[in-house]
Amino acid sequence: MANPSDRVLIFDTTLRDGEQSPGASMNLAEKLEIAHALRALGVDIIEAGFPIASPGDFEAVQAIAREVNGPTICGLARCAAADIDRAAEAVKDAAQPRIHTFISTSDIHITHQLRSDRKSVLAKARECVARARAQISDIEFSPMDATRSELDFLYEVLEAVIAEGATTLNIPDTVGYATPAEYGALIAGIRKNVRGADKVVISTHTHDDLGLAVANALAGVEGGARQVECTINGIGERAGNAALEEVVMALRTRSDVYKGLHTAINTKLLVPSSRKLALVTGLAVPRNKAIVGQNAFAHESGIHQDGVLKHRNTYEIMVPADVGLTDTELVLGKHSGRHALRQRVEALGYHFDDTQFQLLFEQFKALADRKKTVYDADVEALAEAMLHKGSTSAMWTLEAFTTNAGTGTIPMAAVCLWRNDGEIFKDAAMGDGPIDAIFKCIERIAGIEVKLRDYRVRSVTDGEDAQGEAQLECEYQGQTLRGRGVSTDIVEASAQAFLQVINRAAQKLGPARLNPYDVQPVAAAQEAAGS
Ligand code: KIV
Ligand code: ZN
Repeated sequence: MANPSDRVLIFDTTLRDGEQSPGASMNLAEKLEIAHALRALGVDIIEAGFPIASPGDFEAVQAIAREVNGPTICGLARCAAADIDRAAEAVKDAAQPRIHTFISTSDIHITHQLRSDRKSVLAKARECVARARAQISDIEFSPMDATRSELDFLYEVLEAVIAEGATTLNIPDTVGYATPAEYGALIAGIRKNVRGADKVVISTHTHDDLGLAVANALAGVEGGARQVECTINGIGERAGNAALEEVVMALRTRSDVYKGLHTAINTKLLVPSSRKLALVTGLAVPRNKAIVGQNAFAHESGIHQDGVLKHRNTYEIMVPADVGLTDTELVLGKHSGRHALRQRVEALGYHFDDTQFQLLFEQFKALADRKKTVYDADVEALAEAMLHKGSTSAMWTLEAFTTNAGTGTIPMAAVCLWRNDGEIFKDAAMGDGPIDAIFKCIERIAGIEVKLRDYRVRSVTDGEDAQGEAQLECEYQGQTLRGRGVSTDIVEASAQAFLQVINRAAQKLGPARLNPYDVQPVAAAQEAAGS
């Protein structure tokens, strides 16, 4: 058995498995923005989506395949002819396209979900890989629920798909059940016992139901896997996937253990990428999240602070700057010029054309008039608002509002919204408070009602003139939608956050969308495939 190389490929599935986390769905402009950030970060493969899921998913995968140069662009497909053809169509314009096809191999899935048998699953796996390979040369195959599959059958399926031309074998711990020792041994066993395994890349795909996703991915690498499937901030189905930043920094920080294994990730972009994803999706990063959480490098206890001041290595195993956390965030003010702002905006990973930048600069000047100092978080908030404004998919934009509240008065609001066909709408309402009144106006104008589940306000930066950030979580037609708004006025921030939720809900009114876990029974899949 040949030794695998020292290079660990990073397969990012933020835009596919990650997007399946409740409340993380993104529109086309947002997906493109994240895909560009992933390219800059240095990921090897971007799983851009599940093209058959909806016309919007197809369009996003196709746009990423056409626009994002560098990484391999991958589309997901169930083992069904229609799925594979749709995925091939979506990725075909990429410089390096890939199809990722999957079918369950565990008896529990085969019997109860697919309502099929091992023989049909094996035949389907063969057929689908052959069909995909006839269209695209880079083919990844996943035996879903691999960690609960009977080993001999798993080996048989893997050997068969290698013979049909699969180039990567991905081994999903779909339900996050495996322990690191088991998962490492599973990967090593596949490398040893599956004929042809030395000619293909073995990949990990681990879920975090028991909090073991990263540990399992690393155990898989020790067992000989050379591709890791992961997501920024570990977002994903249920408890999420292995967090990209944790896998990358573990390999790098403990290179003494992972002997020379390396990735192509520019680690200095880990924190900016994490923040960008949180801003785009509204899914906040827990403060204590490893590598990218706000507290990841904060030392609270006196003993720790004393140690770090004397010698950083006493309590710090990584250099904050290596993950993109700078001690000295550049502070801008009303005397800062275009050049300083442009530099800051680009360092934070945003790229605007001259017209957009001019508008951003004017907003920056207006903000600097209201606030003494403008921090990175303020610049990020302006840049994000600009991106959302520029996105044609945002149906509603806040034009103006006014509120009236106080002890002994009836809280009221009047709101004026702009619709993306150029029409202006106005309404006024009473509420339990000024924010409730604004939300009521917005709901009435948009004709969409959502259930508010969570509402939080916090300051983005330090100081009395800090901007306030409002974060909302709402339920709409059984789905979670999130919104975020930032302003020096928390009422405006709340209105912006609520409008983001309403715009997301308006998008959902489009055609229904499939989830890859809604696997069809094999018979139905065969029908869809016309076989
Ligand atoms: O977790 C899983 O099994 C998946 C497959 C689609 C690869 O996400
Ligand atoms: Zn998964």
